Amino acid sequence: MQNNISLASHIGDYQFDNLLLNAAGVRCSTTDELNKTLDSMAGGCVTKSATPEERAGNESPRMKALPLGSINSMGLPNHGIDYYLKFAEENQGKNGKQVILSIAGLSIDQNIEMLKKV
Ligand SMILES: Cc1cc2nc3c(=O)[nH]c(=O)nc-3n(C[C@H](O)[C@H](O)[C@H](O)COP(=O)(O)O)c2cc1C
Repeated sequence: MQNNISLASHIGDYQFDNLLLNAAGVRCSTTDELNKTLDSMAGGCVTKSATPEERAGNESPRMKALPLGSINSMGLPNHGIDYYLKFAEENQGKNGKQVILSIAGLSIDQNIEMLKKV
């Protein structure tokens, strides 16, 4: 039986063949991980939430897989806004997909600083 259900959608002016994307922070910290998602059947990718500067995050152990899910306190380990902004600039539209840049400043001032760069 043929299945004609479409998962295509849009967020504002941005079109997606499907809206199945990685959750922010999950396998999206490095350009290698982000490229793997863009090269998969996902409809796009979301970058690891960025802070103005690179952060190492909390010491391990900081994530535990459990039978019903997982629990984590990663401490926002990320490569910094410049790293993810460069990836977004270079890969927006790759394979016809959107790159969603996630930011997580630790203050309003940090968010404004990053938004000005964007
Ligand atoms: C290892 C890990 C890192 C995460 N990092 C981020 C992050 O950087 N930014 C963010 O908004 N959410 C982050 N999250 C939260 C996920 O995006 C997601 O909201 C969470 O896993 C709950 O998913 P669910 O709503 O499908 O249950 C992280 C989750 C995990 C497991």
